[in-house]
Formats: sequence, structure tokens, C-alpha cells
Amino acid sequence: MFERDDVAGSSLPPPATCTFQGRAASAAAARDFTARTLCGWGVPGLVPDVQIVVSELVTNALRHVPGDPADAPPIRLRLVKHRFHIGCGVSDASERVPAVSPWNDLSESGRGLHLVEALTAAWGWILTRGGGGKVVWALFDTSRAS
Ligand SMILES: Nc1ncnc2c1ncn2[C@@H]1O[C@H](COP(=O)(O)OP(=O)(O)O)[C@@H](O)[C@H]1O
Ligand SMILES: [Mg+2]
Repeated sequence: MFERDDVAGSSLPPPATCTFQGRAASAAAARDFTARTLCGWGVPGLVPDVQIVVSELVTNALRHVPGDPADAPPIRLRLVKHRFHIGCGVSDASERVPAVSPWNDLSESGRGLHLVEALTAAWGWILTRGGGGKVVWALFDTSRAS
């Protein structure tokens, strides 16, 4: 995903990674993993926002990657503690990229990435070399957690 902004002498924890084979329960498992990890890292105040975003990104990886999720490579969630930010990255096997839909009050779909936009300091995606997939990533400012 992205390297930690670690510097010599600082003591940031190692990144936390979890994989999900496509299934309906993945988003709930991702939310639990996020809560446990962020509480362990001493940033419980960020749990609600990061859980919403992780949930949207994992759900998108399940819904929008062509083919049967049960046959696709696992979806991987990675959380990274930086000095002033928390990073999350969700990898999937498709090179199709997220596309923010025009806002429509009446539509029941196309809202997820608007939530991601609203709750993060920055977000985006990057294609992975060789693997034919991508990582959708987001950054959260830890100063919002207090
Ligand atoms: N992981 C993904 N892989 C491929 N396409 C994606 C992915 N995430 C989002 N998209 C594309 O971006 C669109 C908008 O996503 P989103 O705002 O979450 O709305 P929704 O999931 O309700 O369609 C999706 O309809 C899809 O076309
Ligand atoms: Mg969505």
C-alpha cells in the first residue's frame, strides 16, 4: 500500500493485515478487525469513521469485482499506523477502478465513495504491478480522534 512514515527511534507498531475470502460476512469481520486494531493502537476515537470506510471499501471489493467472489483471490485489508495518520488499504483482484457517482438524493446506490470522501483526509487507488489488481486506500488524521 504505502510505506510508514517511520523514523529512526520512533516506535510505531507493525502494519496489521487481514484477508477475507469473498462472503457476506467479510464487511462485519473487517469492522471487528478495525476496532480491535485501532483500540490496540490507542486511537479508539477513530474507530467509527474507519469502520464505515473499511466497510464500504470491502463491500465494493466484493460487489464490483467481476466473477464469483468465492473463486476470486482473497480481499486483503491492511491498516497502518503513521505518526499523524491511520492508513487503510483494501486490495482486490480487479483493475476496474472506483468511480464517484454524481450525487443523487433519490438513488440507493453510489453513496459509498461520497462517504469515503467525507470521512477521510485523502483517498485514492493504485494498480498493483504484475497482479492485475489494485489497492483502494484512505488516510485518516489522528488529530480528529480526540
Ligand atoms: N473495488 C472496486 N472495484 C471496481 N469498481 C469499483 C470498486 N469500488 C467502486 N467501484 C466503482 O465505483 C462505483 C461507485 O462506488 P460506490 O460509491 O461505493 O457506489 P455503489 O457501490 O453503491 O455502486 C461503483 O458502482 C463501481 O462502478
Ligand atoms: Mg459501494
